[in-house]
Amino acid sequence: MAARRAGVLVLLGLAALGSCPCAPGPLPCALRAAAAAKMKVVEEPNSFGLNNPFLPQTSRLQPRREPSPVSGPAHLFRLSGKCFSLVESTYKYEFCPFHNVTQHEQTFRWNAYSGILGIWHEWELSNYTFKAMWMRDGDSCRTRSRQSKVELACGSSHRLAHVSEPSTCVYALTFETPLVCHPHSLLVYPALPPALQQRWDQVEQDLADELITAQGHEKLLRALFEDAGYLKTPEESESVQEGGAKAPVFQTLENCSEAHKELSKEIRRLRSVLTQHGIPYTKPAETSSPEHMGPKTPTDGTAEQL
Ligand SMILES: *[C@@H]1O[C@H](CO)[C@@H](O)[C@H](O)[C@H]1NC(C)=O
Ligand SMILES: *[C@@H]1O[C@H](CO)[C@@H](O)[C@H](O)[C@H]1NC(C)=O
Ligand SMILES: *[C@@H]1O[C@H](CO)[C@@H](O)[C@H](O)[C@H]1NC(C)=O
Repeated sequence: MAARRAGVLVLLGLAALGSCPCAPGPLPCALRAAAAAKMKVVEEPNSFGLNNPFLPQTSRLQPRREPSPVSGPAHLFRLSGKCFSLVESTYKYEFCPFHNVTQHEQTFRWNAYSGILGIWHEWELSNYTFKAMWMRDGDSCRTRSRQSKVELACGSSHRLAHVSEPSTCVYALTFETPLVCHPHSLLVYPALPPALQQRWDQVEQDLADELITAQGHEKLLRALFEDAGYLKTPEESESVQEGGAKAPVFQTLENCSEAHKELSKEIRRLRSVLTQHGIPYTKPAETSSPEHMGPKTPTDGTAEQL
């Protein structure tokens, strides 16, 4: 883990300092050690947490949005507002269901590291069962945000049992609780309000009557789970992501055709500009056979992908 690496550097720094005589100089030994430690932290190329050492640790954590509303099986709502922690090597991980996941460095240092690993976003559903809680939009990690997937597992007490980082800045947590031990405790259908259950019944009927395809069935259920608040729409999910270009969202086929017409017009305009200036270009994909290709230019690669 990046943060852990910083911690190791800091410890190395402290060890090096520890071997020097400390008495001379204007600063007390501990303070100089801390100053050295701070330098190492600043070298780490990310903005994990806010490195203002003069603020108390808790107020250094700046969530970038509010958590989503509490949703899912009602018997889990009692976990909201509670927090469960796990100390692993030099870090304390804290999971607050329906709120956040944070990481706190366990150290005597005055500027110990703290960071947000995710804010409650949406459920992961699989086979119409609640599988995990996705906590997203945590502290920055290069061009992305840290995020955590918290799997729910049956256990004899509420307990954050396991934390790992399967890919960079994506954390996997396992939360054990007796609340998910009943084989039906995580089924989606019983958690839905009656109106949405009726809608689901209708979707199943329409599939049986072959009024919709399997793909249509998937889509209608996804929309139903979004309406229930279990899943977020793609727009809601993108709203706080940095960097990524937003793909256009089309409500209707007309919207899509309209956009296609506009883009085709723009392509014709750009082509005529190229022609006017005698700049060779590659024809778009529909004429992809080699004899139709223009002379090789640096734009070939992109044009072929169109
Ligand atoms: C995380 O959630 C807990 C419990 O709801 C809350 O008290 C705390 O302020 C939250 N921390 C952050 C950084 O949002
Ligand atoms: C999906 O859930 C049903 C019951 O809820 C179960 O019978 C079935 O084996 C599950 N399928 C998979 C692929 O997990
Ligand atoms: C989609 O089309 C409808 C009318 O067909 C229009 O009112 C709406 O603004 C369009 N939406 C977008 C995103 O272009």
